[in-house]
Amino acid sequence: MKLFIDTANIDEIRIANDMGIIAGVTTNPSLIAKEGRSYKQVLAEISSIMAGPVNGEVQSAHDASAMIAEGREIYNLDPKHIVVKIPMSAEGLKAIKTLSAEGIPTNCTLIFSANQALLAARAGASYVSPFLGRLDDIGQPGVELIQTIADIFANHPDLHAQIIAASIRNPTHVTACALAGADIATVPYKVIHQMINHPLTELGIQKFESDYNKVFGAEL
Ligand code: G3P
Repeated sequence: MKLFIDTANIDEIRIANDMGIIAGVTTNPSLIAKEGRSYKQVLAEISSIMAGPVNGEVQSAHDASAMIAEGREIYNLDPKHIVVKIPMSAEGLKAIKTLSAEGIPTNCTLIFSANQALLAARAGASYVSPFLGRLDDIGQPGVELIQTIADIFANHPDLHAQIIAASIRNPTHVTACALAGADIATVPYKVIHQMINHPLTELGIQKFESDYNKVFGAEL
């Protein structure tokens, strides 16, 4: 399973990218709004940093023709990197069909059921994004949805969409998604740090340092 970072913050993207752990970036309108800059500016800057896919979402979510026009505009910011995120709906599926036929990669977002993922894949989406944290929030097991979609896609090799597990809230989600068969997990910066740190690692580093320094001195 690959990891993307789920943020529109340039500093967070740079730090994660410098660690060599992320293969792409996902943003959404809420994340872009937090940065207080235009989404075009932010997406263009992210694309200049990242070697992999940069997911930018359309703001117009209700009408296929508006989503198609905006999708083309977002894609043209950097055709080598940009993936256009389109929300799941009947209009969204129409937009995915048209954009995919033009060779524009799409990510169908706000997926909360296996059938929605199946429809998005059939419409031509390159990626589907099930939101597991938001399902957990309403008492439905989000990871089970990832597993079900992965099973369906494995049973039907003519479905080519990759699964991006989204709405990841903690490191346990990441492990569970890897086991469930997600192709990618898009992980917030805070969760990346929770994945890195472990109290026993910290203690181990301190003990190695103090044992060494007791014998050889701190100057080494
Ligand atoms: O990018 C979509 C997604 O990851 C949202 O996460 O935590 O707002 O449900 P969250």
